[in-house]
Amino acid sequence: MRLEGKLAVVTAAASGMGRAGVERFVREGAKVAAIDINPDALAALVAEFGADKVSAHVADLSSAEDARRSIHEAAEALGGIDILWAHAGMPGPASVEDLDLEAFDRTIALNVTSAALGAGTAAPYMRKRGGGAIVFTASISGLVGSMMSPIYSAAKWGVVGLTKSLALAMAADGIRVNVVCPGLADTPMKQGFTGRSGDPAEAAANEAKLVAAVPMGRLVQPGEVADAALWLVSDEASFVTGVAIPVDGGFTAR
Ligand SMILES: NC(=O)c1ccc[n+]([C@@H]2O[C@H](COP(=O)([O-])OP(=O)(O)OC[C@H]3O[C@@H](n4cnc5c(N)ncnc54)[C@H](O)[C@@H]3O)[C@@H](O)[C@H]2O)c1
Repeated sequence: MRLEGKLAVVTAAASGMGRAGVERFVREGAKVAAIDINPDALAALVAEFGADKVSAHVADLSSAEDARRSIHEAAEALGGIDILWAHAGMPGPASVEDLDLEAFDRTIALNVTSAALGAGTAAPYMRKRGGGAIVFTASISGLVGSMMSPIYSAAKWGVVGLTKSLALAMAADGIRVNVVCPGLADTPMKQGFTGRSGDPAEAAANEAKLVAAVPMGRLVQPGEVADAALWLVSDEASFVTGVAIPVDGGFTAR
């Protein structure tokens, strides 16, 4: 097993890619603290994997207080932290015209601030255990521009910058910091990018347009991103830090 005895925290853990990460981390021998805003989905996660493997921590990670508290709670439940997959994020506004500043702030808070606070709160626990591994989730929109999601793109470029900076700052402590950059993924959040108008035909057309731009011609599956995160936190990636890995069927290869 690749994560035997490891203590892992996953945020936005109750659905999609985060959930696939919990499944893989548990399968590979880790104990997992799952953080999410949805208590019912968290309870289902614990029921599926067992309370001896997964603990549940409800938090609204767009709140700085919750972001810090939930990591401390997770560390207490696990008895320390070796691994953090700070996966939380949201699409945010579609345009800068008539920009809703509250929505702007919430987008930055969930995508960037929660990642920084998660890493900052987890790092001292990792140092106590002699090192660790942090993975963030950005997006293809953190590597190239996004026509449909400008604020999201700004936030995810921020997450990529945070990754590289923290990789430099934390290397001496044996903490590796990397980021996965998925293309449009087959999860509930997909609708937040393609279906903002609420019109299903428009959502389908937007999805078709995005998929047509993917050389491999399809959406990314949650498990494909979780597999990349698993590799990054495992010892197989022991000399890998500061990298942004696209999981995008070649979208950013041009
Ligand atoms: N789905 C995509 O197309 C796509 C593509 C690239 C990157 N991403 C990134 O992946 C991450 C999540 O995406 P997913 O597709 O796995 O999503 P998902 O919709 O399957 O799951 C999102 C999870 O986040 C939780 N959540 C929502 N708001 C929260 C908050 N304020 N505090 C704590 N938890 C909250 C939800 O309850 C849910 O369990 C985000 O960082 C997103 O930006 C998604």
